[in-house]
Amino acid sequence: MTAAPEPEILAAFEAAKGFMPPHEGLALYAAAVEAGRFGLPLLEVGTYCGRSTILLADAARRAGVTALTVDHHRGSEEQQPGWDYHDPATVDPETGLMDTLPTFRRTLHRAGLEDHVIALVGRSPQVAAVWNSPVGLVFVDGGHTDEHANADYEGWVPHLAEGGLLAIHDVFPDPRDEFTGQAPYRIYLRALASGAFTEVSATDSLRVLRRTGAGI
Ligand SMILES: C[S@@+](CC[C@H](N)C(=O)[O-])C[C@H]1O[C@@H](n2cnc3c(N)ncnc32)[C@H](O)[C@@H]1O
Repeated sequence: MTAAPEPEILAAFEAAKGFMPPHEGLALYAAAVEAGRFGLPLLEVGTYCGRSTILLADAARRAGVTALTVDHHRGSEEQQPGWDYHDPATVDPETGLMDTLPTFRRTLHRAGLEDHVIALVGRSPQVAAVWNSPVGLVFVDGGHTDEHANADYEGWVPHLAEGGLLAIHDVFPDPRDEFTGQAPYRIYLRALASGAFTEVSATDSLRVLRRTGAGI
């Protein structure tokens, strides 16, 4: 049976600011619950305001593990002023820069999940470079350039336990479906071509792969 969040967790997720549609969120949740069985942390790249983090945090709580979420909190390219995904409410009036960290903290507090999450505030490749322990899930939802998506893949997949799950968001095989580009699709193809992953599920733009071999 596929794991689903309790109604209050689902309500907190749906109320949170962010980009994860509910049906993809449910697929992510099921993957996170399954990956929790390894007894290892569940890692997300791309916290934003904590919408998807709620799901990883609740899955981590159920498994007695911790969710890790990485973000510099300055926003991706497409979230900057002048772009379609920009939200002026995320700009810090003092610095004039995006800062999604305060909203993220409120989101987790409201959901009652603060104790189950470690927020890693920094650039994903920099954090990955100093990380030194295995994780049961890597969820890639960070920058959408090839540079960022490949760095996320190369930085975090080596920490993914064998049998663990790699989830990638915004995988669009048809370039007409997404104007932020197809870098997530290309790392999805890269994972399959590596021979180290097999596909577990596809829910619109959310793909879940299982690590079945070494190598990236
Ligand atoms: C699409 S949003 C994440 C959405 C979130 N998972 C949700 O469910 O709403 C992408 C996030 O990745 C972050 N990001 C982009 N490039 C990054 C990098 N190189 N290192 C850390 N964070 C990055 C941005 O700051 C942004 O908050």
